[in-house]
Amino acid sequence: MDKLIITGGVRLNGEIRISGAKNSALPILAATLLADAPVTVCNLPHLHDITTMIELFGRMGIEPVIDEKLSVEIDPRTIKTLIAPYELVKTMRASILVLGPMVARFGEAEVALPGGCAIGSRPVDLHIRGLEAMGAQIDVEGGYIKAKAPEGGLRGAHFFFDTVSVTGTENIMMAASLANGRSVLENAAREPEVVDLANCLIAMGAQIQGAGTDTIIIDGVKRLGGARYNVMPDRIETGTYLVAAAATGGRVKLKDTDPSILEAVLSKLQEAGAEITTGPDWIELDMKGKRPKAVNLRTAPYPAFPTDMQAQFIALNAIAEGTGTVIETVFENRFMHVYEMTRMGALIQVEGNTAIVTGTQALKGAPVMATDLRASASLVISALVADGDTLIDRIYHIDRGYECIEEKLQLLGAKIRRVPG
Ligand code: UD1
Repeated sequence: MDKLIITGGVRLNGEIRISGAKNSALPILAATLLADAPVTVCNLPHLHDITTMIELFGRMGIEPVIDEKLSVEIDPRTIKTLIAPYELVKTMRASILVLGPMVARFGEAEVALPGGCAIGSRPVDLHIRGLEAMGAQIDVEGGYIKAKAPEGGLRGAHFFFDTVSVTGTENIMMAASLANGRSVLENAAREPEVVDLANCLIAMGAQIQGAGTDTIIIDGVKRLGGARYNVMPDRIETGTYLVAAAATGGRVKLKDTDPSILEAVLSKLQEAGAEITTGPDWIELDMKGKRPKAVNLRTAPYPAFPTDMQAQFIALNAIAEGTGTVIETVFENRFMHVYEMTRMGALIQVEGNTAIVTGTQALKGAPVMATDLRASASLVISALVADGDTLIDRIYHIDRGYECIEEKLQLLGAKIRRVPG
């Protein structure tokens, strides 16, 4: 298992480009199953989760054509089996995103239940109930969700999400695009990735209004066709490099990104003392060598502060001036990184869904273990500011969501290297 060794104490400084968004690329790849012609997806990030989705397609008989820039052409007409097996689904929950498209386009699907995961129980009941509302017959048997569309195909439905769910909204929006009649999704997720998926579906011929608001109206069409679509920039990768620069007192310019989808994060960084300048597709952060000030925050669905940036801000608060309170409202049990950071000297007290972080002047390098994707990003940030060397184990979590993290950080001057283990 590869490990990262980071020698802390360098102020990050430089320019890098941001990759395509993982959480947009995954539903968009799933959406290609709805088409009756090849779809090309561009600006895909080079990440383990994307490879898993492509491998899943391979298992179903679809052989994506990949060019050297990682644009992928998918021809869903070659599908042979409608089963998403457990060995793949268990490594990536987002595999559930193929459920809605397969039932809508091919009339049936068998997708393994993702089960629990390191950041809480994460059920998929809303995905199932949404499809049932469209007339699908669903049985959960032997660890698989077995879904069948009614005679004549899925029917448009009025569905209220009692919890805001990003992939739940995406799954039902995709299924509704090929259903008979109108669907209205209420209390839908407003995340930019939902909007990106809707734009891709619209490019394929879907009729969708209201994506980006909490009510999405979809008028089902008889067929969806081919398209070429560019995935949006990754707002969480963007935020992670901004926090890394702020924590080290440095300066970064991030290109090929979009400041308009990061307002909650940018405003917290300004509160922490960062100077931020933006252009249409870039963000520059300058900390001018200062130590950040601790910030209070509360995660919630978009446009509020994203849960996927919570761990990175705990790392920022850990070396900041003052005390910051971080409240996690989206997932239970999403504070595992705290215990690893404590091993580096961070002063953090967890009470239920609240972490109270008292900043210290310096963290100390230590061997630590990544527990999930964003938790690992927070350990990288802690290591960048710590005295001495930090050895981060289980970095396969990082490779699921950060493209070439060590190359990008090296470009910013960090002392980081990967060692095969
Ligand atoms: C997506 C993102 C993930 C991000 C999360 C919240 C992708 C591939 N992943 O995950 O990075 O952290 O949004 O912004 O886009 N819930 C239910 N029933 C369901 C579905 C969800 O109760 O059927 C609950 C979950 O347990 C959680 C909350 O809803 O407490 C939000 O989860 P959800 O938005 O569904 O997360 P994901 O879509 O899995």
